[in-house]
Amino acid sequence: MSKLIRSSISIEEELLEKYDRHIKGKKYPTRSKAIIDLIREELVRKEWVEGKNVAGAITLVYSHHKREIVNKLMSIQHDHHHIIISTQHVHLDHENCLEIVVVKGKPKEIENLSDKLRTVKGVRHGSLTMASTGKKI
Ligand code: NI
Repeated sequence: MSKLIRSSISIEEELLEKYDRHIKGKKYPTRSKAIIDLIREELVRKEWVEGKNVAGAITLVYSHHKREIVNKLMSIQHDHHHIIISTQHVHLDHENCLEIVVVKGKPKEIENLSDKLRTVKGVRHGSLTMASTGKKI
């Protein structure tokens, strides 16, 4: 971890009060931690836009009763095995499954995989969490 420095900014009082109320609701221990997270969020977004190596998680909810869906999802994942680090399958109830596919690679490849999985017929919900490898933030 690099050394901490103190920095000050000029900001409208009303805006800062609003922000402080907002972060209090989010349970941030300090304003510094909230602002550091904002900065990192922006840097992660930049990594995705610039096509750097990134990490993320694709979450899918589907009914395994639908014909062929399990085979289809498995086949797509095998086609993209080079960017998949791990998968976790949870049986939510008798019918519904939740799957988390952890990925690492180039943003375009990850978004392509996410789009393919989320649009399979029978997938009830799909989302992509855009995260970072953590190396540059
Ligand atoms: Ni299941």
